[in-house]
Amino acid sequence: MKQKRIGFATRMGAIAATVGSAVGLGNIWRFPYQAGENGGGAYILVYLICVLLLGIPIMMSEFVIGRSTHKSMKGAVEELTPGSPFKLFAYIGVLGGLLICGYYCVVCGWVIEYLWSSASGNLLGHTPEEYSNIFSTFVSSPWRCVMWTLLFLILNFLVLNRGVEKGIERIASFMMPLLFLLLIVFCVNSLLLPDSDEGMEFLFDVDFDDLGWKGVVDAMGQAFMSLSLGVTCLITYSSYFKDDSNLMKDAVTISGLDTLVAILAGIVIFPAVFSFGLEPNAGPKLIFEILPTIFQQMPGGTIWATLFFLLLFFASITSTISLSEIPITFMIDEYKISRGKAIAITAVLMTIIAVLSALSFSTLSDVKLLGRNLFDFLDFVGPNFFMLLGGLVTAIYVGWVLKKDVIHEQLTNGGMHRSRFVQPYIIFSLRYIAPVAIVIIFLYYVGII
Ligand code: PHE
Repeated sequence: MKQKRIGFATRMGAIAATVGSAVGLGNIWRFPYQAGENGGGAYILVYLICVLLLGIPIMMSEFVIGRSTHKSMKGAVEELTPGSPFKLFAYIGVLGGLLICGYYCVVCGWVIEYLWSSASGNLLGHTPEEYSNIFSTFVSSPWRCVMWTLLFLILNFLVLNRGVEKGIERIASFMMPLLFLLLIVFCVNSLLLPDSDEGMEFLFDVDFDDLGWKGVVDAMGQAFMSLSLGVTCLITYSSYFKDDSNLMKDAVTISGLDTLVAILAGIVIFPAVFSFGLEPNAGPKLIFEILPTIFQQMPGGTIWATLFFLLLFFASITSTISLSEIPITFMIDEYKISRGKAIAITAVLMTIIAVLSALSFSTLSDVKLLGRNLFDFLDFVGPNFFMLLGGLVTAIYVGWVLKKDVIHEQLTNGGMHRSRFVQPYIIFSLRYIAPVAIVIIFLYYVGII
């Protein structure tokens, strides 16, 4: 039986929703702050290499698994390779999805706070130092952080309850191009700031002395985070792709757009950081300090700010919807429960994780895991452990276990598209490059290298 879990009305709908999943806070909030912490240029180069060598091949493999069976991870593996233990890795996706979405919703809450304060005309009119204090005061207020996080969760689950088809498709298809345009306007604005070239040098001058192992790990985790890889989300979404869509082209287009948005975000942020004499390594609060300072010097700043945070909100919710869909689809398929019940259980679990993460900067700031508060811990293990592990499993499964015919059939749509170069490249990456690279990172974690 083909489960009626979620549905996309049109092919463009499924692809637009996949872009919606990929483009989000990962690109606009996480990428700049990670680049800032890891010294800029060299980090970005490693990030781009990770997208090319690991990201695109793993995205294509998730598409192959999903589209060939029109099922999500567990059912797909059962159909493609009956009896294979790989289906157990659906659990990595579920756990990873819950943990990542839990802390991600906290940042979505921050976006709503900033949207609220820009729309009500209170955001602008401060100095850069004041913006840093405003952010710290905000996150250390337990009720305000929790309130916005809860509001976001409610909106997220309301959209899910109405069905992805109506919710995401409509939102994603008009807001992505708009967000893109807005970023271009902001890029031009930032490039015109005095001393903007310092920021561009920071972004694009490659100096490996700044990087170290931590930077390499961060860049790889960020590539997976930004492309929504390794947590089976793209398997579920691609199970709705039409049989005639070109998976190679789609994966390259989606990864390309996603990477472009991240780079544009960098070009908006760093020239401004240097122009205003701020520090690039401010961590997760980076964009919340810089953006108001940027909007402030633009004519009509309040309108730009409001529009931007509104679009960022939409970009975030299309990502959290795809993250929430992982446990929801899993429960429906595995335990044969109704969609409503699966949504309710996911909502409860996610709310617990989100509220605890929202309190990481206030009430629970003393609770540390691996020396980090809960929010920072999840922001580390989500991408840098769960997603990489899921990616490793996907690469091994498609590279070594899955029949070559299935891959060929899916990537070329039964020989319709040529793949003389792409297919060997993908297989080589899945068999050797991705597993070796990810295993090296894990060896680094356990202190062997
Ligand atoms: N890719 C999303 C972003 O960049 C986050 C995400 C991760 C979404 C994993 C779905 C699955 O914001």
